[in-house]
Parts: sequence; structure tokens; C-alpha cells
Amino acid sequence: MERLASIIAAAINMVALYPPNHPRVQHAILEVLQAFREALQTTGEEAASYLLVGDDLLAANQVIRETTLPVREFIGVLKQRGVESLALLPGADEQEIMHLVTGLATGEALESSTHVQLGTVHLVMDEKPKDEELRQDLVTQFELMREAWARFRVERKLPVDQLEELVWSLIDSVGSTARAMLPLARLRELDEYTFVNAINVSLLVLAQARSLGIWGPMLHAFGMAGLLHDIGKMSIPPSILNKAGKLDDDEWKVMMSHPSEGASYLLQMEGAPPLSIIVAFEHHLRHDGRPNYPLIRGRHSPHLASRMTAIADAYDGMCATRPYQTSVSRTAAMEVLKARAQTFYDPMLVANFIRIVGANA
Ligand SMILES: [Fe+2]
Repeated sequence: MERLASIIAAAINMVALYPPNHPRVQHAILEVLQAFREALQTTGEEAASYLLVGDDLLAANQVIRETTLPVREFIGVLKQRGVESLALLPGADEQEIMHLVTGLATGEALESSTHVQLGTVHLVMDEKPKDEELRQDLVTQFELMREAWARFRVERKLPVDQLEELVWSLIDSVGSTARAMLPLARLRELDEYTFVNAINVSLLVLAQARSLGIWGPMLHAFGMAGLLHDIGKMSIPPSILNKAGKLDDDEWKVMMSHPSEGASYLLQMEGAPPLSIIVAFEHHLRHDGRPNYPLIRGRHSPHLASRMTAIADAYDGMCATRPYQTSVSRTAAMEVLKARAQTFYDPMLVANFIRIVGANA
């Protein structure tokens, strides 16, 4: 049953990455059917059933531990979609599995069929319009995150579950309306720059990734990576981080250590998404491969998520008011990005970014 859960998680990732008729998706669905048949044989049960109780996944009267990443992903998706129980019955075909996997990947059309039975949590909807609800939800989560962020300096621990939930909400807000992003501008005046920058970068990365057709768990991974990109700055003393003047050489050296500090922190953090480690390390590398920081030997092409993060970070940084700079207008920030396309930033992504954000400038 653990193997079947992993294979369903892999199929969800495939559906998130490729169109439905892609051979990889077809193959992944067949693998689910094969693993389903094997699970029935191994357990001797009449159906392959999962039950989610709190954080525990029960199957064939046993608790499946969150020992592997795919199982964790499987549990995460069930939680996210509000699925409490899932049962696959003999007779389930490719179409039904495809329907299930697509529903779990996207959250759309998640319904039971003859051989795939889902038990979902009944959400009590109140009278508020969806946008207002979303905004409230985001504000509550921001408050929680702000506290967690502030505690991080002392405790060196980040609540991964809370962060993951926040990113799902951000995804909803990107999908809902561009206006839902607006509360962030107000928060910026109240909060420590690094925290608000993290949220803004996550949103701007999500908007870019979505526009390129990335969705589902992969989109979530991009959002998490955006959120955690500057986590290494938490190791930089506030006197350097918030200095109201130019940094001297020694201070710059400390500042430039934040990508490798961040990556090594995330490497040790339990449950840190792998893409976040890459982006924390790469987000200051240049598109043209010329040296920036961290200094690395040879030419290295940063990951797509890192290139998106670099653009989002530069844009948000220029628009923010910080101790050592006054903000520039959004239009001016976009001109700077254009001027640095080809050298610092990926020109194709800059063009796409301007297309998305330009409309709101
Ligand atoms: Fe950074």
C-alpha cells in the first residue's frame, strides 16, 4: 500500500508536468493500475483503502509512516484536497485513475466514480465573498508566519507545514484575482523587509510559473522556493542587514554568504523541499554565467526557478523602501530589468515578467 501511495504521488507529479495525452502520463496511470493490482494481492483485501486521520495515513489496518518523500507528498495532497478516505475497488480502469489523479493534482472535479470512492471533508462556507475570505485567510497566515519568522533567529526552526499551507493560499490568490495580491503593499510598511520580500517573491514566482503552464505540486515547489530563497539572511546580523549606508568590504563578505548559508540550512532542515535548496543557493547567479555570488568554478546555468526568483527578487527589492534606499517606481524597476536582460537575467523570462506585472504597474 505504501508503494501504491508513492506511485499515485508520482502520477500526480506527471499530470502536473505534462498534458494528459503525454506518454509519460499514460505510463504513470498504467503504473498506478499495476501497483493497485499488486496491493490487492499483497494485502488480500477486497479494496485498496486509505484513511487519513490527523497526520496519519492508515491502510490495511496499519499506519503508513511519512518516511519517504512520495508518501509525504501523497499525504500532503490528500490533506490539501480535503480527502479523508480513498478506496480503489477492483474494476477501476485507466479513465477513472486519470480522473482521480487529475483531480488530486488540480483540485478540480474531485468526485467519486464507480470504482474510486472518495470521502471528503465537508467545508462550511460562510456568506463572505470568496476574495474577502481569501484575503482574511492570507492575513491570518501572514500574522502566523511573521511570528514564526521572528522566532527563527532564536530557535533556528521553521514550521514547514505552515509554510506549505501559506504557499497553497498564495497559489489560490494568484489564481483568483491580481487584486488579491494588493494587501502585500500595505504589509510592507509594517513588517521587516526580509519577510515581506519573501512573500512577494513567492507570489511573483508563482505568477511567472503559472503563466508558463506550471501547476499542481510543481507550482507549489516553485512557490516554496521563492518563499525560502533568502532564508540565509536570517544568519546575517541585523546591523548589517538593515544598515542605513553602504556596506564596507567585510560587511559585504558577510552579506554575500547568505545563499550558501541558506542552502546549507535548508539541507539540514527536515522536510525542506529540494528545489528550495537549489534556489537558495543560485538566486544571485547571473544568467550569462559571469561571476557573482556565491563564487563557483566554471559556467553554471541556474535552474528555471532560480532565474524566476532572481527577477522577482530584483523587482521587489527595487520597489521597496529600505534603510539604505528609497523605492523606485514599478515602471523604472521594469526598465532596469530590461537593461539587465541577457546579462543578469534571462531575457525570455524578463519579457514574460513584464507582460504579467506590467499590466498592474
Ligand atoms: Fe538573496
